[in-house]
Amino acid sequence: MLQYALEAKNLSFRYSHNSPFILKNINLKLRKGEITGIVGLSGSGKSTLIQILNGVIPKRVTGFLDGSVYLNGVDIADMELSYLARKIGTIFQDPDCQILFPCTEDEMAFGPENLCYEPYAIIERINSTAKMLAIEPLRYRNPNTVSGGEKQIIALASVLTLNVGIMIFDESMSFIDDRGKELIKNAILKLKKQGKSILMVEHDLSNLEVADHIFLLKNGTLEPFKGVIE
Ligand SMILES: Nc1ncnc2c1ncn2[C@@H]1O[C@H](COP(=O)(O)OP(=O)(O)O)[C@@H](O)[C@H]1O
Ligand SMILES: [Mg+2]
Repeated sequence: MLQYALEAKNLSFRYSHNSPFILKNINLKLRKGEITGIVGLSGSGKSTLIQILNGVIPKRVTGFLDGSVYLNGVDIADMELSYLARKIGTIFQDPDCQILFPCTEDEMAFGPENLCYEPYAIIERINSTAKMLAIEPLRYRNPNTVSGGEKQIIALASVLTLNVGIMIFDESMSFIDDRGKELIKNAILKLKKQGKSILMVEHDLSNLEVADHIFLLKNGTLEPFKGVIE
């Protein structure tokens, strides 16, 4: 049987018994080295779907979920969130919500330090991630003094030091200027080249030009995108 990096099977979800279904029988497959885009209007359930894919729903945020998510063929239901965080990285709209430290290098060290990596392994992860993203010049900078695009790349770098295989971007270009968007798109193409599986969720279609294929999330269902969002 073909194994996907991440596969959602028959996902249906509502936040409570007396609220409507946000997602209805969603199926999605993320492959290695592939960029999948999802476009949908605000409130269509994009962030809800992401939280199910990375395990935050139902492990931290509760609701009524049917269906399953498989990581490399294994159901994530019994996996700890701390384990999933080493496999699936999520980048949000606002890098300020993700960045904690006044120095890029400390930010990048935080994840592996938390997971008790050996110091030499932490340095190695920082070196290779900084090189891959070409952010060595930002290494000792304060993330609060760089551009929005650079800040988002630092947020990405701090997730990549965990060596995740799957990256999910939740409207990560919303607050970023055109130059910053180019930086992020280039970084995403590098991740693709490395064989990572990438999911980009956007309400702005123009941010999805790097995607290999695009789906539309509408009325709780996912369908191949045919050029019209509404
Ligand atoms: N924690 C929550 N509890 C209840 N309803 C929620 C919660 N989070 C989001 N919703 C509702 O679910 C719907 C989809 O939201 P969301 O997944 O954030 O959409 P999108 O990311 O596409 O804007 C919205 O109607 C929103 O109000
Ligand atoms: Mg959202």
